[in-house]
Amino acid sequence: MRPSVYSDDSELGSGWRITDVASMRAPRGVVMCAPTHYDVVDVKNPFMEGQAGKIDRRSALRQWQDLRRAFARAGATVFEVPAAAGCEDMVFCANPVLLGLDDRGATTCIPGRMTYPSRQPEVAALTAWSLARGYRIVELPAPETKFEGGGDALWHPGRRLLWGGHGWRTGAEIYPALAEALRAPVIAIELVDPRYYHLDTCLCLLDERTALVYPPAIAESGLRMIRRCFDRVLEVDAAEAGAFACNAATFSGGTVIIDARAASTADRLRSLGYTVIEVDTGEFIKSGGSVYCMKNAVY
Ligand code: ARG
Repeated sequence: MRPSVYSDDSELGSGWRITDVASMRAPRGVVMCAPTHYDVVDVKNPFMEGQAGKIDRRSALRQWQDLRRAFARAGATVFEVPAAAGCEDMVFCANPVLLGLDDRGATTCIPGRMTYPSRQPEVAALTAWSLARGYRIVELPAPETKFEGGGDALWHPGRRLLWGGHGWRTGAEIYPALAEALRAPVIAIELVDPRYYHLDTCLCLLDERTALVYPPAIAESGLRMIRRCFDRVLEVDAAEAGAFACNAATFSGGTVIIDARAASTADRLRSLGYTVIEVDTGEFIKSGGSVYCMKNAVY
């Protein structure tokens, strides 16, 4: 049977349950890329408007080191991919590849195809890093279709199912091939607000049952599928979304790392029993990224 791509709740069928999807182990750690060559030199997304030349290198490095410590405190083993000269966005290493497990449990790396040519060299760097760690590399067909890796394709915690964002940086047409490559179903989610251009900016999968979402950034069909698959859907408002609340990250569902700007979301998560580590990613928000996309999951 071919793994399927679902674009609407009705396609899932009335009897379909997320708990019927095969389980998948959690990542054992993260890979990060130091901000050695980090900068804002152009405008790839609305957050970068007016930020060229405004990065404080020293505080960027401090913030990155604090984030690295936060991931370690949350229980993740932290790996590092060397920063490549000329790759000013490589610190956002969620994007160049998608890492995961295929249906036989083999660690698999799917190289992305970046929308902006300046980010394309990052793909080779992350692919080589994965290959050196024994990952199987599976190239997707149709090289003209964009795919921005782990920033748009998110694994459902604990399940062999992907949530696939499309509309800005990733083309919806890629998802059948991705489903085939990983032998996993994909729930395709259309993104509708240019400020929330990657799925990880408006949807955070906190654990198997809980998602954090900024609804105005997601098409109605996508919201229906999210509500169908998660028992608890926590909605954030525009201010919290703009503070990158949905770009939070978790490890094994217990500890959430989130930018301190998203203070009311942090409080709400604490009241729900999560351990929350607040960090400052202000220098990276200038480039349109925060906690979640400053790493890729390592299996
Ligand atoms: N400046 C980067 C870009 O526009 C930020 C990427 C953020 N990544 C993410 N997955 N949210 O490409």
